[in-house]
Amino acid sequence: MKTYVALALVAPVLVSAQQPMWGQCGGLGWTGGTSCVAGAACSTLNPYYAQCLSAVGQQTSTTTLRTTTRSTTAQTTPSTTPATTTAATTTPRTTTTTSSGPVGTGLDNLIKAKGKKYVGFCADPGTLSNSQNANILRTESGQLTPENSMKWESISPNSQGSYNWGNADQLVAFAETNGKILRGHTFVWHQQIPNWVKNINNKATLTSAIQTHIAAVMGRYKGKIYAWDVANEVFEDNGSRRDSVFSRVFGDWTFLDVAFNAARAADPNAKLCLNDYNLDYSSSKLTNFVDLVKTLKARGVPVDCVGSQSHLVVGNGAIPSFKTTLDSLATTNTEVQITELDIRTSASPSSSQISQQVTDYRNVVSACMKTSACAGITVWGVSDKDSWVPSTFSGQGYALIWDNNFNKKACYQGFVDGINS
Ligand SMILES: *[C@@H]1O[C@H](CO)[C@@H](O)[C@H](O)[C@H]1NC(C)=O
Repeated sequence: MKTYVALALVAPVLVSAQQPMWGQCGGLGWTGGTSCVAGAACSTLNPYYAQCLSAVGQQTSTTTLRTTTRSTTAQTTPSTTPATTTAATTTPRTTTTTSSGPVGTGLDNLIKAKGKKYVGFCADPGTLSNSQNANILRTESGQLTPENSMKWESISPNSQGSYNWGNADQLVAFAETNGKILRGHTFVWHQQIPNWVKNINNKATLTSAIQTHIAAVMGRYKGKIYAWDVANEVFEDNGSRRDSVFSRVFGDWTFLDVAFNAARAADPNAKLCLNDYNLDYSSSKLTNFVDLVKTLKARGVPVDCVGSQSHLVVGNGAIPSFKTTLDSLATTNTEVQITELDIRTSASPSSSQISQQVTDYRNVVSACMKTSACAGITVWGVSDKDSWVPSTFSGQGYALIWDNNFNKKACYQGFVDGINS
């Protein structure tokens, strides 16, 4: 599933309206206004999305204003921390927690009390700059995934060896300050990769590009990332190997060997994941995904976790049997993670769709709770207003747990009930 905003739109047409604070003001295909109201500056988050952010204290995406200093005291190694009930009263990086914000009430604390590792959300500087969003993350989340800022095209758009660290650094800094673990996302993916990678046509060059990129990014954040989506969406919907620069140039699956081995070398303590969508029901895609992970592991490729994105639809028949698919994923003998959960419906849902969404959130969360291999759940955003769904699926939305005004929706209780099931 595409995991970014507004890619489907067409060539930009500039108009003169001033965009509100936090409104979109640019990006590939954006046809709306490109100037911001007073006090806000249009900040390019990635080629697909620019947003009006407070002009105070902003940094551009092409300038590294903050030098990353690796903490030698703060880091526990989450991959060796047992998911025990004691986790409810601790945070993974207690020595760096300087935020206000109560601990002990949010979804993350509830799930830790039941032995799971985290409830998390995607985030990036654009959404973090909204204080309501940031406060919800402080209290409800134990884990963050960069929605866009660590994608290859965001980090190294122009050429090998030139990097834009600004947005990713900001997200990592927020996670460290607030004691959240991170999932890194993503390296080998057919979308949001720069043209200089797409245009590579020989195996030696592409091998070197993958190795160099992974070494640079994982090296920068070594010890700070719990798990990495080393490869993303490598299957077509029908279960065949997806056409991409990687599969074309290599002609087989060994681009995964290159990527996972490079990732292990770069940060031996990070969990290395294969992530995909539409693994939510029995299908040739699920079967082939599971078989691939087993095959990779059998030949020594270090795969530690599988990610099921779980972009779902309210009322979908696969949701009541969600545990069956998690069980299939667990046969890989890796950690299973729900990585991009949202459950979309009509943008203006009926009362029955709203109550079905409560049931659906409860069922998905409950399936994870009842599957010992399932470690944690990442929801793909906080507020419906920032969700990728409305711009990607016409007429749909209402997929997340907080509404457009950051009020908890009914499905929040469904999530809680799932944790307690
Ligand atoms: C699977 O889907 C891809 C992409 O649509 C297509 O190119 C390929 O031919 C399909 N394979 C089979 C066996 O149907």
